[in-house]
Amino acid sequence: MKYYLTTPIYYVNAAPHIGHTYSTLAADVIKRLKRMQGFDAVLTTGTDEHGQKVERSAAAMGLAPLEFATIVSNEYRKVWDQIGIQYDNFIRTTEPRHHETVRWLFERCRERGYVYKGSYTGQYCVHDEFYVNEAGPGDNCPTCGRPTETVTEENYFFKLSAFQERLLKHYEDNPDFIQPEARRNEVVSFVRGGLQDLSISRTSIKWGIPVEGDHVAYVWFDALINYISAIRDNATGEMPLWPADLHLVGKEILRFHAVFWPAFLMAADLPLPKKVFAHGLLQFQNDKMSKSKGNIVRTGPVCEVVGIEALRYFFFREIVFGQDGGFSYDALVGRYNAELANGLGNLGSRTLTMIKQYRNGVLPAPSDALAASPLAETARVAIESALKAFDGFEFSRGMEAVWGMLSAADKFIVEQAPWKLAKAPGDEVRQQLDDALYGSAEILRIAIHLLHPVIPESTEKIREQLGIAEPLANSKLVNLAWGQLVPGQSIGQIGPVFPRIDAIPAIERMKALEEVETARQNKLLGRETPAPAAEPEAVGTVAPPSEKIEADDFFKVDLRVGQVLFAERVKGADKLLHMKVDIGEPEPRTIVAGIALVYKPDEMVGRKVVIVANLQPRKLRGIESNGMIVAASLEGGKPVLAGFLEEIAVGARLK
Ligand code: MSP
Repeated sequence: MKYYLTTPIYYVNAAPHIGHTYSTLAADVIKRLKRMQGFDAVLTTGTDEHGQKVERSAAAMGLAPLEFATIVSNEYRKVWDQIGIQYDNFIRTTEPRHHETVRWLFERCRERGYVYKGSYTGQYCVHDEFYVNEAGPGDNCPTCGRPTETVTEENYFFKLSAFQERLLKHYEDNPDFIQPEARRNEVVSFVRGGLQDLSISRTSIKWGIPVEGDHVAYVWFDALINYISAIRDNATGEMPLWPADLHLVGKEILRFHAVFWPAFLMAADLPLPKKVFAHGLLQFQNDKMSKSKGNIVRTGPVCEVVGIEALRYFFFREIVFGQDGGFSYDALVGRYNAELANGLGNLGSRTLTMIKQYRNGVLPAPSDALAASPLAETARVAIESALKAFDGFEFSRGMEAVWGMLSAADKFIVEQAPWKLAKAPGDEVRQQLDDALYGSAEILRIAIHLLHPVIPESTEKIREQLGIAEPLANSKLVNLAWGQLVPGQSIGQIGPVFPRIDAIPAIERMKALEEVETARQNKLLGRETPAPAAEPEAVGTVAPPSEKIEADDFFKVDLRVGQVLFAERVKGADKLLHMKVDIGEPEPRTIVAGIALVYKPDEMVGRKVVIVANLQPRKLRGIESNGMIVAASLEGGKPVLAGFLEEIAVGARLK
């Protein structure tokens, strides 16, 4: 049975970083898992290469857009090859096969009456060359702070408004279509709020796929179709892999995949993907990785020092899949040493060394009693819960179950003390030693099968050392019952699989290599390497000093650490964000703040903020706001929220 899964296609206006790698690795883990579950899994990935930014970056380097896009696209492909991603097809949106598919789908939607010509009026930022959706006449651009202009353009529109009910019905009939659940609810309430028709062509942009006259496809209409063009035979129209079984995306682009894309497909009368799963974003130094903040981590330097297996393990053990998570060098090396070198690696080398030492490297036969022992029972339970967790993409929980089993095996070895048994005489003791050796080897066999999708190379190494001929990649997880190691089998050559990493020099080396890699990538993309922690460009003026107050006056203000639990835009008020904020009280506070031009609802959820907690309530657009969020700004400049560099508990008071 086929299983077709996809990663997002990455923009070529930025070079690959570890956040993109997180996404692609997740897809690779799932592909390997599905293979072991018996599916013919096919994974596609690629690059999204059109749009004004690419055109502009290319021009700045004196290159044609396609030349520039090719350079960056190759960077992505190079990283995926270096880290052993098992992709089957790499699609570039500049390929003729993709252009053809986009025009085909555009026509199909038009023939069925869902594409029409109309005019679009919006606030356009001439400097940044894009429409600022949230802005009204007279508003400034949230990115550069300059005034926007009201511009009217003739475009092709997609009748998104016609799909509200059908989409809602689809979400209801297919509760697993959007995952995780919390994200699904956000999409449902977005669609319930009403859908407006979508402009899907541009005449103001040249670098895109021509769909009609001088109209090129809007980048998202272009990009989403990659999932079909990657697998469609344009000559015959055949696409046996469609519909996709899984689109894996970062949460910030879920809406495009869970609302626009299914609507395009419904309009074209094509089947919808089975599932869209949104994972969280990877942060570094408690912040979103961004060029301007200079807090980007690249994959190459990390893998060169600690290896890709350490990174794979860290990502899927540390971060609950579906939630945001943080990358840190310390945690990466710490987990590797504690859980791979000491945990799995140690159990492996102990077990194998004892088999070599006490049984000449030949696996002994267990007694019948071993299969009914508490150790075997622990393994059965761990297999069941790990498989269940993996099936729901709960990788960290699955691995917790495996590590629970590994520590049970460690305990079992200590209790059995094979080194004592080996010295004691008698048949009964001999059998006890055989059971101890077989039991821990069997735990090892089960662990490497379960862990193979996450750490494929090192589990294959352990497999060889255990003397199992069949690669794990060809094994099936259904056969994972206790007792499959074959007595009499010779173990392979023993060697270290997870050598310990000396943390401090390793971290220093990763950081040093990171700088080299940043400079290399920037040069390649024709960009300057920013000075570390550059000051943001000042927009606005510094406010004059205020009059002096007594300390007591200040202490009257109750400032609290809060965490945003929920955020949405206030209908009809572009600037307002409606939030629920936990400030350590039994009920979260409702807060309405004028930050929506700068902060998206998505970015706010989970974020720690400072709240003025003892202000009189105030009604804004009919919503009672019970507090104020603290932000800094120059007079006339954009607000920047106050936050913390170190961890701090919700409810803590600022004084
Ligand atoms: N080109 C669009 C996607 C079109 S798909 C039809 C795009 N590209 S992107 O390069 O900006 O980001 C693509 C994806 O990269 C994100 O959805 C996410 O999966 C991944 N990530 C980018 N930065 C990331 C983190 N910091 N953390 C985790 N994933 C990240 O959007």
